[in-house]
Amino acid sequence: MTLNKNTPSSLLRVAVIFCIIFCCLMLSACQTLAASDVDSNGIYQSRTIHSPDGIGKFYLGREIAKVMGHTEALWLERPSREFEEKPTKLVNALNFKPTDIVADIGAGTGYLSFRIAQKVLLGKVLAVDIQPEMLDIINFLKKENGITNVEPILGSITDSKLPLNSVDLVLMVDTYHELSNPYEIMQGVVKALKPSGRVALVEYRRENPFIPIKTLHKMTQKQVCKEMSAVGLQWRETQSFLPTQHLMIFDKSN
Ligand SMILES: C[S@@+](CC[C@H](N)C(=O)[O-])C[C@H]1O[C@@H](n2cnc3c(N)ncnc32)[C@H](O)[C@@H]1O
Repeated sequence: MTLNKNTPSSLLRVAVIFCIIFCCLMLSACQTLAASDVDSNGIYQSRTIHSPDGIGKFYLGREIAKVMGHTEALWLERPSREFEEKPTKLVNALNFKPTDIVADIGAGTGYLSFRIAQKVLLGKVLAVDIQPEMLDIINFLKKENGITNVEPILGSITDSKLPLNSVDLVLMVDTYHELSNPYEIMQGVVKALKPSGRVALVEYRRENPFIPIKTLHKMTQKQVCKEMSAVGLQWRETQSFLPTQHLMIFDKSN
């Protein structure tokens, strides 16, 4: 039986075609919205459609995570952290010399800074953070425990305010992935390092989907290496003795 042009079936067919065209147009509009804007320096891209855990800003293909606010400071100090993350093992593995100058960028409450301070009794720890509330906590704990070799520094999102050519080790624990301007911060790190200085990054292992941390708060070794080489830092080693994190060491020697 041939269908008449005005039968319900032919109207249905027209409606379906109309719907398909409409959907295609909507999809293309969404793609335009999600399209990347490259910033003026060509370093970062911004996208309107992105992870709820990120800031919509991308660096070398990775979306930057939101900063952990100071209201979560107690989580950094949780008693189970020693068991879960083995920070004592981490500090021991860094083999500090008593005279070392260490920069702990993204120091938070100073959880790592105070542990390192005990290892560098003739040196000091520069505890950098961008949240004044975190520095208030560090100052409180310094006074409370009579510690003199931790120096809190209020950094900015582009500058950690470290003295040039002065630091033996720059450490970032669970911090690098949330730097809003990683390129500028790492350029400053390179300038602050002594010629023999090292950078130690501790990040949750993104290669392992069973580590129960939000994806943007984890990093693969490949991505970390890519981002360090963008500022001229060379990978030296990755240590995997921590339960959920990689310890990655870089330096600027040729
Ligand atoms: C997840 S917390 C980790 C704190 C600490 N490293 C620890 O493991 O206990 C990350 C910290 O990095 C800080 N941060 C984020 N961006 C920063 C930047 N550009 N410079 C310095 N600190 C930054 C945040 O304010 C926050 O205190």
